[in-house]
Amino acid sequence: MCGIVGYLGNRDAAGVLLDGLRRLEYRGYDSAGVAVLNEGEMTVMRAVGKLNHLSEAIAANPTPGGVGIGHTRWATHGRPSYENAHPHRSGPIAVVHNGIIENHVELRRKLQEGGVVFQSDTDTEIVAHLIHEAWRNKTEKSALEMRDAVRCALSQLRGAYGLAVVNEEVPEQIWLAKDASPLVLGYGDGEYLCASDIPALLNYTRYVLILEDGEFVELSRSGVHLEDRSGQVIERLPQQINWSPVQAEKGGYKHFMLKEIFEQPRAIEDTLRGRIDLKAGDLNASELGLPAEVAKNIERVYFIACGTSHHASIAGRYWMEQFARVPAQTELASEVRYREPVFGPRDLVVAVSQSGETADTLAALKEAKLQGAKVLAVTNVLESAIARAADGALYTHAGPEIGVASTKAFTTQLAALLMLTLFIARKREALSADKTREVLQALVEVPAEMRRVLESQETVQQVARRWHQAPHMLFLGRGLGFPIALEGALKLKEISYAHAEGYAAGEMKHGPIALIDEEMPVVVVAPNDRHFEKTLSNLEEVRARQGQVIALVTEGEERVSGDNIQTLTIPPLHDAVIPLVAALPLQLLAYYMADLKGTDVDQPRNLAKTVTVE
Ligand code: M6R
Repeated sequence: MCGIVGYLGNRDAAGVLLDGLRRLEYRGYDSAGVAVLNEGEMTVMRAVGKLNHLSEAIAANPTPGGVGIGHTRWATHGRPSYENAHPHRSGPIAVVHNGIIENHVELRRKLQEGGVVFQSDTDTEIVAHLIHEAWRNKTEKSALEMRDAVRCALSQLRGAYGLAVVNEEVPEQIWLAKDASPLVLGYGDGEYLCASDIPALLNYTRYVLILEDGEFVELSRSGVHLEDRSGQVIERLPQQINWSPVQAEKGGYKHFMLKEIFEQPRAIEDTLRGRIDLKAGDLNASELGLPAEVAKNIERVYFIACGTSHHASIAGRYWMEQFARVPAQTELASEVRYREPVFGPRDLVVAVSQSGETADTLAALKEAKLQGAKVLAVTNVLESAIARAADGALYTHAGPEIGVASTKAFTTQLAALLMLTLFIARKREALSADKTREVLQALVEVPAEMRRVLESQETVQQVARRWHQAPHMLFLGRGLGFPIALEGALKLKEISYAHAEGYAAGEMKHGPIALIDEEMPVVVVAPNDRHFEKTLSNLEEVRARQGQVIALVTEGEERVSGDNIQTLTIPPLHDAVIPLVAALPLQLLAYYMADLKGTDVDQPRNLAKTVTVE
């Protein structure tokens, strides 16, 4: 997620923009830029890397002026580079943008046919050209006409955007538009600000107005003009924010991890955006560079990953076998790279990595490629080492994850792997359009179901209060519940330092059952899926040995009740998407248990977010 800041007032705009962008640095970025207006002239400055590079460039070429927009970019379309850094300019117009324009390919083609020459690979530059195209035909060159020009461009966009726009021919205004990407306004003393996130504003004002989807704003020295999607003027007063700057970075949440747990519905929407064709019962994934012929001829799929990404891969393997009917296996990267593995030209190797930099995963992927396998990356970071080394990449678009414990990275990997599976299944004609549509429809509904789970945390907190001192905990699951059990245990051990083990429920009898006594809490992932009855038997085996059961079940489940059972629930879901939603109560359980113990949730001891050494 990139950062946006805008300023209109009597201070030095460049200084305010740099300061605001610095407050958003914690979110991660790869380049930055500003556009500042001074007496009808616009200066655009951009720099790759840290904000210091931009501030040095500005210091060397001062950009006076009281109106401007700024941006820190975290690459989604086009690699991190000077050309791709925002603001993007077309004639007198400059634009900064957060989000993803879904129909960027078709809009780019149209603009190119009309003679536009692009300077960058970004979807954002399209917006600048569209506004410029509409502006060129205006005769009065007034602020009102500029509103029209921006609206005209917006009407052609599909996707998510937080946009800030300036025009050097109307230099005392900033135009803003929001749809599915955050934007807030700041009301200062004789000055107005805007930003993608509240921390950027707090040095200047505590009065903020959070924009809603579809809203359009014109900031000018005389005030704020706000309208809804239909053009209706809205009168809404700003609210006072009392957060400290540190609280503000976390969006008011106590920890980044909790914030990121709550970001998951939005993150999944971003992962799915532009990739699902419900009408055709198919996927748009041309970015993968996986032609139908190659997909048809795949003999085996290997998922290679570490940690949480390995857990997501297990679900990927199960889906691949079930839907695409291709033999599939998962490999721990640290094992496979030293095992003298054998890959062939008809193998598809999928390297799954949030950071795209994990040393073992990268080495394993390179080995597979050397042996002639087709290699894909499922990663969150554009142009990361793993993305670059692969033949194609499916980006998860989760936005930067700051908590060391992966949460939104995990569920967005699940969404990406399910889409990859369905894409291959369709190409191999292993799944009908109707059946694919049914799964895709369920996937599209996941964000709403996640929101329901996140609304009811009271039971999770009760369970956490009861068990946060437990030194050991066992997590059991079957089928797609197995990777969820593994991930639930990993979350708990890494942030609460309790010993936790994830096990395939059917394996319990082969060893872990010896651990069970009246002290031992056992989380049983038992949603109402095709394995339910078998999982229920395992649950009863735990109870029969006085084990304490925490059952993760589907709402309304009456077959799981009795002494020694506490239940966490998820809504009724299509079997295929259960893991995406079932992950959330266990993330919350780990979080609340760790918080009650007072551990360093966001930076647990001994752990690094990115493991670039083996
Ligand atoms: O960046 P990657 O996904 O390749 O990282 C792999 C693991 O280090 C990572 O998934 C780790 O297990 C999680 N952050 C734990 O929550």
